[in-house]
Amino acid sequence: MINQEKSKKEQINISDIDDFFVSESNQDQYSNFYNYQKLMAYYRCAMMEIATKFNVLNEEFSLQYERNPISSIKSRLKKINSIKEKLTKNGYPFTLDAIEEHLNDVAGIRVVCSFTDDVYMLANAFTKQDDITVIARKDYIKNPKPNGYRSLHLIVTVPIFLAHEKRIMKVEIQLRTIAMDFWATLEHQLRYKKNVEFTDDMAKELFLCAKLSEELDSKMDMLRDKVQLDKKLLE
Ligand code: GTP
Ligand code: MG
Repeated sequence: MINQEKSKKEQINISDIDDFFVSESNQDQYSNFYNYQKLMAYYRCAMMEIATKFNVLNEEFSLQYERNPISSIKSRLKKINSIKEKLTKNGYPFTLDAIEEHLNDVAGIRVVCSFTDDVYMLANAFTKQDDITVIARKDYIKNPKPNGYRSLHLIVTVPIFLAHEKRIMKVEIQLRTIAMDFWATLEHQLRYKKNVEFTDDMAKELFLCAKLSEELDSKMDMLRDKVQLDKKLLE
């Protein structure tokens, strides 16, 4: 059973919406409120679809090889304030159309895998599915960010089937190993610690830690090959 963490439902008040949607005309605040909640529900449905797809792949693989390629799946919905902030920063109005058109990461899924090969195996099996369209793919494992950050990022669309319509929703997926996740989680905590200056020395140390995590991943890959963990059970 995969450890699955779902984002908590955000409580939004009608006053939150009233402040926003400034450029949307002819719509009263109640319909803005309702439509915003509806759009967020669609994003949650899209995350459920994606999580299910990865759960299915994990199930199939674990039957064949008696091990789980996925260690955990986390999902998160971008908060209303972050949505507004990002739209404003990029010069877009806070409207439902702008959210859908210009933001790729309202719905986010993080798939934490055991080995680096699992990341690629899962990403390939997933993107081959005929209802998934890949909009962007960034491989920060082959080309890590200058600070050392590693992960495979995909922006995809997935259809969700509602009672009377089909909606195509965008989702950001981050696939990474446990070692990559460990580094990224701690780096994020250190970098955004309030009232503490993030110095160049700290950045250098973190970069070295990223290199260590890379080494750890390759050593684990070698060990896995040695014990032939991925020998098919029914050969
Ligand atoms: P945004 O960062 O979302 O505005 O878009 P972008 O196009 O720059 O996306 P990118 O693929 O670089 O990063 C998207 C997400 O990956 C971020 O929101 C983080 O969750 C994660 N991420 C990217 N870089 C780092 C990093 O250096 N450290 C950590 N901890 N996470 C990162
Ligand atoms: Mg982001």
